[in-house]
Amino acid sequence: MNKPEALVVAEPVVGSPRPHESAHLHVSGAAPYTDDLPEPAGTLHAALGLSPLAHGRLLDLDVERIRRMPGVVAVLTAADIAGENNCGPLLHDDPILADGELRYAGQPVFAVIATGREQARRAAALAREVVRAEPLPAVLTALEAHAAGQYVLPPMHLTRGEPAAHLAAAPHRLQGAWSLGGQEQFYLEGQISLAVPQEGGEGILVHCSTQHPSEMQQLVAHALGWPAHRVTVQCRRMGGGFGGKESQSALFACVAAVAALKLKRAVKLRLDRDDDFLITGRRHGFDYRWDVGFDDEGRLLAADVELVSNAGHSADLSAPVMARALCHFDNAYWLPHVAMHGYCARTHTQSNTAFRGFGGPQGALAIEMILDGIARRLGLDPAEVRRRNFYAPGQDTTPYGQQVEELHAQALTERLLTSSDYARRRAEIDAFNAENHVFKKGLAFTPVKFGISFNVAHLNQAGALVHVYTDGSVLVNHGGTEMGQGLNTKVAQVVAHELGLPLQAVRCSATDTSKVANTSATAASTGSDLNGKAAQDAARKVKARLAAFAAERFGCAAELVAFEGGSVSGGGQSLPFADLVAAAYLQRVQLWSDGFYATPGLHWDRNRLQGHPFYYYAWGGAVCEALVDTLTGESRITRADLLHDVGASLNPALDIGQIEGGFIQGMGWLTMEELVWHPKTGVLTTHAPSTYKIPTANDCPPELKVELFGVANASETIHRSKAVGEPPLLLGFAALLAIKDACAACGPAHCDPPLRAPATAEAVLDAIDAVR
Ligand code: MTE
Ligand code: MOS
Repeated sequence: MNKPEALVVAEPVVGSPRPHESAHLHVSGAAPYTDDLPEPAGTLHAALGLSPLAHGRLLDLDVERIRRMPGVVAVLTAADIAGENNCGPLLHDDPILADGELRYAGQPVFAVIATGREQARRAAALAREVVRAEPLPAVLTALEAHAAGQYVLPPMHLTRGEPAAHLAAAPHRLQGAWSLGGQEQFYLEGQISLAVPQEGGEGILVHCSTQHPSEMQQLVAHALGWPAHRVTVQCRRMGGGFGGKESQSALFACVAAVAALKLKRAVKLRLDRDDDFLITGRRHGFDYRWDVGFDDEGRLLAADVELVSNAGHSADLSAPVMARALCHFDNAYWLPHVAMHGYCARTHTQSNTAFRGFGGPQGALAIEMILDGIARRLGLDPAEVRRRNFYAPGQDTTPYGQQVEELHAQALTERLLTSSDYARRRAEIDAFNAENHVFKKGLAFTPVKFGISFNVAHLNQAGALVHVYTDGSVLVNHGGTEMGQGLNTKVAQVVAHELGLPLQAVRCSATDTSKVANTSATAASTGSDLNGKAAQDAARKVKARLAAFAAERFGCAAELVAFEGGSVSGGGQSLPFADLVAAAYLQRVQLWSDGFYATPGLHWDRNRLQGHPFYYYAWGGAVCEALVDTLTGESRITRADLLHDVGASLNPALDIGQIEGGFIQGMGWLTMEELVWHPKTGVLTTHAPSTYKIPTANDCPPELKVELFGVANASETIHRSKAVGEPPLLLGFAALLAIKDACAACGPAHCDPPLRAPATAEAVLDAIDAVR
């Protein structure tokens, strides 16, 4: 780049709506993803042969038959894995390739390595014929597993007060059961790894589309039986992760690495979309049972709730997902007496994993369904019942023992109900529904409170490197990964702000385990909180050295040296940043630094499910209006008003993008994205965009209004901003409840339509039939 001295800062870098650092490359198709990297000469291609059975004993594999297929160079099975045959992130219960037991239809049994990708895929497709196995009885649903007491982890219980006594004494009781579907991440870039042997086979470089390069490094090292320092994992960007590349990118990284070392050639493993669906897990579907007591005003007095998640065949991240679900059942509400029971059911299906919200949505949606039911039972407005139950001064401690410090629900709701004209539209919709019998409208408000930080305290740490080059340009490397959310843009903004530089003077480079070590996953929405602070720390160290150097030249105190507008000034003098840097270099001043951050004040007792797991909460609210065709069951969200809390925004353009995207993704989950496993064979039948429908531009509500709450974070976060990646997904609850409200208009007063989620046309018709 040119020397930044000529550039003038037009507006503050932090807090301004700068475009995503790669936006111009994204929209022109020029941004390189892993598959776009130039392939080293002789690169081979891998494909996986999948189990045709949901459960079985593996007897035999006709490897020779696969080897004879055109282009095939090698066939790998579990026996070829020199180190540990495991890619499970927490428990070691996740084989890379099946060994002895087949655990789900779609499980990788062998890998074919061929000269071309199509040849590898064609040979792998022989799996059906070459895998000989004895079928065993399969458990395909979570409730079946729950009934049999089959779990991937011990059950979790979280109790406060005396729920049983207060349930018995409550003036009203509501008991119910409900089921909620899972959700495919549907990252546009599928899972992929390219492994390249280094140093004559003594090292390996893995280009991997992953949210967790450090864990990929560890798991690859374990699979190879190597120390971690021989493995480097790199990720410049992902075409979306949404939690699906937090742990589950590992299987592909391990297979590519094992194959590359065995064959001494680069090996690429890029999944076909159908295989991606069949092999990897997704958001856990949940089944609930609840029993709640409440008063005449709709105030919750006690609750007893059972949450059963479909974990799939292994633990993966099911434990922390369930912990987050239990810590979000309260959502924005005070629960004086509560008992929660979480079960992670073991089934013969894909192992479910992280997905935006990480169990939080599955916890919070339960109480939203409960409050909606209470409002209908009492004939009260559901928004009013919600407000009566909000956390308030003196009623501000969560069931897991953390005090809620910022009580934003009341003010945020008040503002949103006013700006969305809720009361007037409620009356209009009631009038519309009284006159129309084929079309019905519905309206719903739901709030969000989402805890920010990893529930496991030690994961809340990050590192960064800031390099200032002698021309004054700056390169940042941090432990976070870029998946479209704009993390690199935000981190660059933070560093540019510290050094008083225009944003163009700062670039972030690819995430690389050889630069910043032992990083946490970019997950739990903590990317900019953690890496922004670590990069700020590094920038401040360089800045302190430059300030000391400048103070000497300017003859003033170091504290009086200012970095602003691309210049450094003090004692009435000023120098372009680049000139100061060049001079400092000649005087042997260190122009680069590392930085580190650990979130303060967190603790968590995972056995008692008590502590202070979250640094703060992000708040939000949504009002949605739905139109339902009661003859076909089709529905549409016609208007959505979203008000969301991002603290003092680092970048309002990126934040609004995250809010819109999160809302639409939540709406898609709850209204149209349906997963269907064959009830007999256990094969996932919805494994492509032809059968699994995600929302498109046409499904976006024609009226979509997004506003930022605009109150700085009370906790000392990076520039008092708040995390935004996941919380807006919960805004999508209002879409489901608006459709439910329209269904309720088809039945008598006080009816409570048993609408399941996703609210597909079939589900809507069933709910209407039930209340008519
Ligand atoms: N936004 C885009 N465009 N693509 C993604 O894959 N993932 C979401 C969210 N927003 C995602 C996204 C998830 S699951 C998380 S945890 C956060 O981004 C992670 O990034 P952050 O911590 O930097 O917000
Ligand atoms: Mo996000 S589910 O924490 O990767």
